[in-house]
Amino acid sequence: MGMVILKLPDEIEKLRTSNAIVAEILAELREKVKPGVTTRELDRLSEALSRKSRVRPAFKGYRGYPYALCTSVNGEVVHGMPSDRPLLSGDILSLDFGVVYKGYYGDAAITVSVGTVSAEAQRLMKVTEEGLYDAIEQARVGNRLGDVSAAVQERVEDAGFSVVRDFVGHGIGRNMHEDPQIPNYGVRGRGIQLRQGMVLAIEPMVNEGGYRVKVLPDGWTVVTEDGKLSAHFEHSVVIMENGPEILSRMP
Ligand code: MF3
Ligand code: CO
Repeated sequence: MGMVILKLPDEIEKLRTSNAIVAEILAELREKVKPGVTTRELDRLSEALSRKSRVRPAFKGYRGYPYALCTSVNGEVVHGMPSDRPLLSGDILSLDFGVVYKGYYGDAAITVSVGTVSAEAQRLMKVTEEGLYDAIEQARVGNRLGDVSAAVQERVEDAGFSVVRDFVGHGIGRNMHEDPQIPNYGVRGRGIQLRQGMVLAIEPMVNEGGYRVKVLPDGWTVVTEDGKLSAHFEHSVVIMENGPEILSRMP
């Protein structure tokens, strides 16, 4: 593990703002999701809302990624690219979005239903979000990173689902991706000690079937190897003296 950057109060304040803007924009996007809408329209809306809030979309241009928003449908796990294919009732859609405000990054993701989805899809999304909240609950001074990771894994595997291994959460601050890496599987009591001022983007990616994934020839879209569903939720969280504070809480 490399260097974990602890944030000072004035930096935490900027991260509060950047992540509040991410949360606000995700909440607006979520309202627009319905059958017939295209993910390209959602991408354009995320750009327009960023302009309105005077922030820069963080993903566009990041390692050559061409869009502001990641839109991962059904068996797409993360980094799905917006397209002109209309969403269909029964789809589940992950919206992953980030911005930069005064040099500080915000990053969060939600998975939402399009129209009416199966009971199993609903359970997958619920368990993934519960895994995220279990993990956040462990993000406190005195705990270790393994406590955060294990919390996700236990919730997910107890429900009969699997956690993706090949992609992880991350520290966040003046860069979108900082140390530490935050796997969604691990062992309680292991890993680095958590400290006041750490800011963590915790992001469980949970598969209905097996944990294996592959990247499509477009170089971005990560899909389940077995073609089954996947869900993704992410919050950026600061570890305060009194416990975790979710920076990207939806309005
Ligand atoms: N939320 C994603 C992450 O934490 C966003 C990166 S996707 C990219 O890695 F498009 F920006 F590359
Ligand atoms: Co992230």
